[in-house]
Formats: sequence, structure tokens, C-alpha cells
Amino acid sequence: MTTTRGLEGVVAAQSAICSIVDGVLCYGGINVDELAENATFEEVIYLLWHGVLPKREQLDELKKDLGINAVVPKEVIDAIRSYPAGVHPMSVLRTAVSTLALYDVEAQDMSKEANYRKSIRLMVQTPTIIAAYARIRKGLEPVQPNPEYCVAKNFLYMLNGTEPTDTAVKAFDTALILHADHEFNASTFAARVTVATLTDIYSGVVSAIGTLKGPLHGGANEQVAAMLGEIGSVENVEPFIHNALENKVKIMGFGHRVYKDGDPRAKWLRQMSKELTTQIGRSELYEMSVKIEELVTGEKGLKPNVDFYSASVYIALGLETDLYTPIFAISRMSGWTAHIMEQFENNRLIRPRADYIGPVNQHYVPIDQR
Ligand code: ACO
Repeated sequence: MTTTRGLEGVVAAQSAICSIVDGVLCYGGINVDELAENATFEEVIYLLWHGVLPKREQLDELKKDLGINAVVPKEVIDAIRSYPAGVHPMSVLRTAVSTLALYDVEAQDMSKEANYRKSIRLMVQTPTIIAAYARIRKGLEPVQPNPEYCVAKNFLYMLNGTEPTDTAVKAFDTALILHADHEFNASTFAARVTVATLTDIYSGVVSAIGTLKGPLHGGANEQVAAMLGEIGSVENVEPFIHNALENKVKIMGFGHRVYKDGDPRAKWLRQMSKELTTQIGRSELYEMSVKIEELVTGEKGLKPNVDFYSASVYIALGLETDLYTPIFAISRMSGWTAHIMEQFENNRLIRPRADYIGPVNQHYVPIDQR
């Protein structure tokens, strides 16, 4: 039996949602660069769920469905109010999404149509939950979603209770597009493993949220922000990075299991970081990031991944650090639900084997003789 540590390079199943070939990332066969430049997040949601871009009336219908389903049951908001203070928003999201299932009359309906409707609700109730928690923990009342707004605008509106600027909405929408899917990344694979037992879609999404939370996956963007804060100035970058590399400390936001020559999403976030940090008069965040990139790439050959520049983008958008991974979850909900629906379409239990390396030929020894 051969083992592959971390399943590196293992092709676990077929999928028609997203591809990474020779470092090029495509959703439904369309290069993510084209989508970042031209599409809206809602078009990308449709693309991931249906495999093709929507016609105008299909997009209008999806936007209408997303708009009217964003309200979260009062019982779930009340449950969020009862959570202990100071817990991480990803833990809140994991628990609140699980609670959502308890109030969804279709939770156990395994039909294709019901799963699609649940995907719509999960897609737009996730941002409502995160924004509500972000306000509740500050002693503020949650803001009801506006059914007329796109996902990006609605989230910023519910979070701050004010109309976001067009620049902020556009930047946030692009970030959502870039994070939307990434074939069999850890959280998506967790979701697929979960639903391959034919459990419900909420269980799959809860697995995915728990998996995204880790610092080797979606949690890395928060660590990048913490690192930028710790470094504090461009002059401090060099000693900090040298010291970290010498001590074999991982630099968050660098390296990738699949992209060894660079993550195609990073250049978009790099450009957004440059523009947005300059606009708010904090260009040092971008300059520090560029200097870190120079050193880490120069000395270790590691390139920035999607999480690296997203940290300075989110700082520039005024978002609290511990909301970065939940924001990633808002975007990736589109991919998770697409993969869950695809898994149900052609399901087979996912059950690999272990290469046993423990002791053999042992015997039961009575407890007082051990
Ligand atoms: N900083 C310093 N060294 C690193 C880094 C890093 N960020 N990433 C990898 N390396 C080193 C490893 O220590 C290892 O060195 P060694 O051969 O001397 O032991 C070598 O590069 C190979 O790295 P692996 O850990 O084997 O790479 P793997 O494919 O298993 O891990 C991962 C990929 C988890 C992304 C890794 O690069 C990492 O931990 N990066 C930092 C966390 C991060 O940014 N995660 C976000 C990924 S993108 C996403 O999930 C959205």
C-alpha cells in the first residue's frame, strides 16, 4: 500500500466546477482573470451552480431569490445573542449555520430542488449571520438585509449600517469572485466527504466552515494582518522576516499546495491593496507587503497566495481582522454548495484506507496486569 502525505497530487474524483491546470484557475472553463475583470459575484454564483454564465433573465431571477432569502430566522439571531462573549466569529458561524438547519423545514429534504433552494438560503444567510454577530458583540442591533442589494453591498451595509461606497462594493465583490471556488481545497473536500454519506447539505457546510477556520487554510489571512501589525513599519520588515525564516517560522500567506509558481489570484489582490491602501492614506501597508514578498520569494522561493494581499485589502476596507476568514466563508459558500450539489448528482461514499504502522499481534491484558 502506498501513501501520499496530505494526499498531495491525488486526484480524488471528477468535477466540472473548477479547474487548475498549469497554474491557471478557471470556473466552468472561464479564466478567473476574465471573471475578476468583468463579472459580478452573482454571475459567478450562477456559473458555479449551473456550469454556464446566466442569461439576463436567469441572473435577474437569481438576484431576486438571493435578495428575498437573506433574512435569518429570529430564533437564530436570538441564539447568537446568547453565545459567550469573545468567541471567534468562525466558531459563531459554524454553530449558527448548524442552528439554521434546525429552523429550515426543508433541512432533511434531499431532493435536487430543495438542495438548490437551501444553497440559495445558505449563500445569503451566511453574510447576514456574520454581520449580525459583528454588531451584536459591540452592543449594536443587527441591520436587516436589503433585498435590492447584491451580496457584496448587502454585507457591507448590514455590517456598518450605512451605505457603502461604490469603490468598497466593487473591491469587495472582486474579492468574493476570487475566493469563490478552488476545486478540492481542504474545506470543499471536507464538505464532499461529509455529504457523500448522504447526510444533509447543512452538515456538509458545517464541516467546511470548521475546516476553513484553520490557519493553514482560510485562517491565514487573519495571521497576515497580525503579522503586518507586529512588523509595524517598512524598516522592520527585513529583520522580522530574516528572524522568522531563520527560526523556521512559517510566513502566513505564502506557499501553496497546488501553485508552486504563484497563485493567479494574488496579483488582483496586490493591485487592489495598492489602490485601496493609498486611498486611505496607509500605503505603508502595501509597501510592507511588497517588501515581505521580495524577501520571502527571494530567500525561500515561496510566492504569495490569495490570503497575503487580501489582508491589506480588508484592512483598507475597514474590516475587523477576525472577520476576514468569515468573509472568505461568504465567498466560498458558493463553491461549497456547488460541490455538494455535484457530489449528490453522482455520489459514491468517500472512504480511503490507512497505511497501518502501529504494533501488531498484541493481546488483551487484564487491567491490573498492565
Ligand atoms: N513560510 C515558510 N516556509 C514555508 C511556507 C511558508 N508560508 N510554506 C511552505 N514552507 C516550506 C515548508 O516549511 C517546507 O519546507 P521544508 O521542505 O524545509 O520542510 C516546504 O516549504 C514545503 O512546504 P509544505 O508545508 O510541504 O507545503 P504544503 O503543500 O504541505 O503546504 C501550505 C501548503 C499549507 C499552504 C503551506 O505553504 C503553508 O503553511 N503556508 C502558510 C499558510 C497559508 O498561507 N495558508 C493559506 C493557503 S491558501 C488557502 O488555503 C486559501
